[in-house]
Amino acid sequence: MTAALATLYRVFYDGVLSRLPEPRAVSLGQTALRVLPLDRLPIFRREDPRLATTLGGVRLPNPLILAAQYYDTAILRRAMGLGFGAVTAKSITRHARPGHPEPNLARVRTAAGPGLINCNGFKNPGLEAFARDVARLPHRVPLIVSVAGESPEDCVELVRRLGPYGDLVEFNISSPNTRLVYAWNEKPQELRALFETVRRVTTKPVIVKISPDFADINEAHIIPAILEAGIGIVNYGNTRRVDDPRLSQGFGGLSGPEIFTATLDNLRRTRHKFGSQLDIIATGGVDSPEKAEALLREGANAVGYFTGFITRGPMLARLILERLLA
Ligand SMILES: Cc1cc2nc3c(=O)[nH]c(=O)nc-3n(C[C@H](O)[C@H](O)[C@H](O)COP(=O)(O)O)c2cc1C
Repeated sequence: MTAALATLYRVFYDGVLSRLPEPRAVSLGQTALRVLPLDRLPIFRREDPRLATTLGGVRLPNPLILAAQYYDTAILRRAMGLGFGAVTAKSITRHARPGHPEPNLARVRTAAGPGLINCNGFKNPGLEAFARDVARLPHRVPLIVSVAGESPEDCVELVRRLGPYGDLVEFNISSPNTRLVYAWNEKPQELRALFETVRRVTTKPVIVKISPDFADINEAHIIPAILEAGIGIVNYGNTRRVDDPRLSQGFGGLSGPEIFTATLDNLRRTRHKFGSQLDIIATGGVDSPEKAEALLREGANAVGYFTGFITRGPMLARLILERLLA
C-alpha cells in the first residue's frame, strides 16, 4: 500500500507539480500540507522501539529528520505526524525578512533524479512572531529550532529566545544564498568564540549546520571549534552553492540527489577523523531508502532531508523506516 501511494505521488509530482510554475507548485503543495489531515493517518508512520536513536541525549523515535524549510507551525504540526523522528523549523532571523524576490526557486532534473535550486533568502516572520507561534506547537516528536544570525548579538539573542521552544537548537552557518550566514565560514576564528557563547545561553543541545562548500575549513577549523565549545552535534549539511541565471540572485543552493555523493563522502571523512565524540546528522540528497540506509551504515546518527519530501512525497519516511527494520 505504501509503495503504491509512493508510485502515485511520483506520477502526481512528474505530471502536475513539476509542470506548474514554481510559485504555484509551492503554494499548492503547502496548502495541501496545511489543510489535509495526513498526520492522522497511521500509514505514513512506522513506530518501533528498534528505530529509536539519540542526539545530544534527546531521544528521537527514529533517525529521520525533516530538514529546515517550513516556519508555518500548521505545516510543522502536520509534518510531526508524517513518520519523522524529529522536525526542523526554518532558520529564523531577528527581524522578519521577505526573502529574495521571485524567481527564487528552480527545478533541476539530472540522471540522478529531480532536485531544486533555491535562493529563498530566509523568508521568515522574524523572532517575535515566530516565538509566539511556536510556543503553541505541541511536540509530537522533537522539534529542532533553527537560527540564522548576522552578528554575534543576533545569534545569542536568537538562541536565548528560541531555545526554550525547541528540543534541540540548530545554528545555521551554511545557507549559501545570503551573505547573512554563509560569510561565517570566512571567519573561523570568530566562530570559535561564538560557539562558546551560544553554548552558554541555552540548556538545549546545540547542532551546528555546516556547509558542503567548505569541507576543508569544516574539518580543519570549524568542527574542532565546535567540539572545543562543548557542542557535540553537526548537521553536515546544507545546499551546494551553484550559479543559475534563472534565479533573481543569479545563484542559489542546489539540493536533491545530485549532492548525495558529497554528503556520503563528507560523512565518511568526518566520522573517520572525529570518531564517536561527534553526533552527525547527514543531510543532502536523500530521496530513497537505499540512500538513507547508506548514510546510517557509514555512521550517521540521523539523516535529514527536505527535497526528497517534495519530490518523493510524504511516504518516503515510512519506506525508509521499513527498510531499516528489514
Ligand atoms: C526552499 C528551501 C529552503 C531552505 N531553507 C533552509 C533554512 O531556512 N535553513 C537551513 O538550514 N536550510 C534550509 N534549506 C536546506 C535544507 O534544509 C537542506 O539542508 C538542503 O536542502 C539539503 O538537503 P536535501 O537535498 O534533502 O534537500 C532549504 C532548502 C530549500 C530547498
